[in-house]
Amino acid sequence: MNPATPRVAIAPPRGKLGVLTPGLGAVATTFMAGVESIRRGRSKPIGSLTQMATIRLGKRTEKRSPLIKEFVPLAGLDDLVFGAWDPIPDDALTAARKAGVLDARDLDPLADFLSAIKPMPAVFDNHYVTRINGSNVKSGKTKRDLAEQLRQDMREFKQAHGLDRLVVVWCASTEVFISAGPQHATIEAFEAAMDANDEAIAPSMLYAWAAIMEGVPFANGAPNLTVDMPALVQLATEKGVPISGKDFKTGQTWMKTVIAPGLKARMLGLRGWYSTNILGNRDGEVLDDPASFKTKEASKLSVLHTILQPDIYPDLYKEFSHVVRINYYPPRGDNKEGWDSIDIVGWMDYPMQIKVNFLCRDSILAAPLVLDLALFSDFAHRAGMKGIQEWLSFYYKSPMVAAGLQPEHDLFIQQTKLKNTLRHLMGEEQITHLGLEYYP
Ligand SMILES: NC(=O)c1ccc[n+]([C@@H]2O[C@H](COP(=O)([O-])OP(=O)(O)OC[C@H]3O[C@@H](n4cnc5c(N)ncnc54)[C@H](O)[C@@H]3O)[C@@H](O)[C@H]2O)c1
Repeated sequence: MNPATPRVAIAPPRGKLGVLTPGLGAVATTFMAGVESIRRGRSKPIGSLTQMATIRLGKRTEKRSPLIKEFVPLAGLDDLVFGAWDPIPDDALTAARKAGVLDARDLDPLADFLSAIKPMPAVFDNHYVTRINGSNVKSGKTKRDLAEQLRQDMREFKQAHGLDRLVVVWCASTEVFISAGPQHATIEAFEAAMDANDEAIAPSMLYAWAAIMEGVPFANGAPNLTVDMPALVQLATEKGVPISGKDFKTGQTWMKTVIAPGLKARMLGLRGWYSTNILGNRDGEVLDDPASFKTKEASKLSVLHTILQPDIYPDLYKEFSHVVRINYYPPRGDNKEGWDSIDIVGWMDYPMQIKVNFLCRDSILAAPLVLDLALFSDFAHRAGMKGIQEWLSFYYKSPMVAAGLQPEHDLFIQQTKLKNTLRHLMGEEQITHLGLEYYP
């Protein structure tokens, strides 16, 4: 069987790809250290679809299941170059040591590589992240000035490292809750608000604006509004830039989007879902601030309703109670503990309970998502895709969707959409799992 012809022209991944992260904390340093460790043959890319997953093509009898990275022209790991911005001036080695995710036996052999990654001065304002104080911060008269400095950083980074392309993945702290207002409604209103130093324009939005203006794909790993607003969606579409978000789907919410579709598939009811987290890293400290937690809470709460559809199934899911807590508990560090107590109902209304105690490592779960989002966002750009990349919903707690649509939260529908998008772009048939030849 000859390989299919791609449906669209896809530029090959020639040259080097720069991956820039606002934020050089636990997630970003674990991601960078991991990629380098894989490049040196010390680790395997566990948790990364782009590196480890296969994709079935054609009929089952054809037995074609290549690795995704062999099917789709993705940038190779050897072609990635890392950079970051952070208000804290620590290089990636110091930051990784402070984050306490990776052991010395894994960090020490990478010391030369990590210590060479030094954060560029950040666009940072305590008003939006209250628990962090840093000296490595840009100054400028207006928010637009600051955003222009970020654009300049991107150009200089690209030139200094001889890069062909860039992507930006937001790995910085969660900002305080901001809902979309008139300042975010159109490009003109957004740019006027930057000029006027309007409070509704948070630093993350300046990074997103700068990236889009530079023609650089932007992926948002935190629940901040950032790029999820009409103005920047419109700008991204006009400039032909892929964007995606929000909030990496890692520990507890990932588990929720696995279990909830299972309950619904079997038409079992839900009375309540109580989730609590014990977390002791810097992210936990930032989320201890009620304003930052509100942003996270909104992202975590939205999941169950859209999966369970209480409007369609009132007998099963009407008025279930859903509580999410994050407790900052320093001794636990990055090793988060997620507790879920789930009250379900079955045949003749008999109650049952499911308890999940997930002893996870936040950044270990997030790092491969950063890699996949960087590689897929770059691929999407080369394939001419622009604006919101719904097929990347698989990676997010609060997936961005076109105005008026409900996001899809079910992990398995998201996975099907991701793989079918790749099949579609590469000119392969969609897979329905029907096996038509066995039906009358
Ligand atoms: N680890 C996970 O499983 C997970 C899942 C979903 C979302 N997230 C989000 O990812 C982000 C990073 O998490 P983390 O554990 O690495 O946090 P972290 O606190 O270790 O690192 C965040 C870094 O961002 C920096 N920062 C803050 N504001 C900045 C700005 N304006 N510009 C540049 N840098 C800035 C901070 O100084 C800090 O070094 C957080 O927003 C977190 O909520 C993480």
